[in-house]
Amino acid sequence: MGSGRQARSSGKWRPAGLAAWAVIGALLVACKPPAETRRTPEGGAEARGLALIENAGCGACHEIPGVTWPKGRLGPSLAGFDDVGLIAGALPNRPGTLAAFIRNAPSIKPGSTMPPMPLSESQAADVAAYLYGLDHD
Ligand code: HEC
Repeated sequence: MGSGRQARSSGKWRPAGLAAWAVIGALLVACKPPAETRRTPEGGAEARGLALIENAGCGACHEIPGVTWPKGRLGPSLAGFDDVGLIAGALPNRPGTLAAFIRNAPSIKPGSTMPPMPLSESQAADVAAYLYGLDHD
């Protein structure tokens, strides 16, 4: 425990210490998955949902994370949708109800100003999966 011995050993260990940091650095880099694979395994539905949202033009009326353009303001922002209590302030926020609302809002919420969208049931389910996943990353 003498100070002389400590000084000697720290001098001896310095190169190894640097090597260890290099290894830790390499491990940290290796552990970070590339952005495209981070959403798997449920990434399939969410990725399809985003593509459908872009094709259907939801962005014309909604601000939606992941959709860079357009960012319409006619409808509410869809960020963090799984934290929303009621869909359009009226319907329980459940996946099936959300999918039905997305397909044909006026049919399940009379008087809704969101127009029916040309999506199949499974497409609407994928879109709902994407909206629910929005604040998980
Ligand atoms: C023409 C404009 C328009 C388009 C296009 C549109 N929406 Fe909407 N959306 C609205 C409006 C307006 C509301 C508010 C409706 C209400 O309160 O009844 C709304 C409400 C919503 C809500 C409920 C939001 C909340 O905070 O409760 C969701 C979810 C939604 N839209 C998803 C979509 C998706 C997904 C698409 C594309 C498939 C889409 N919308 C396309 C206008 C639009």
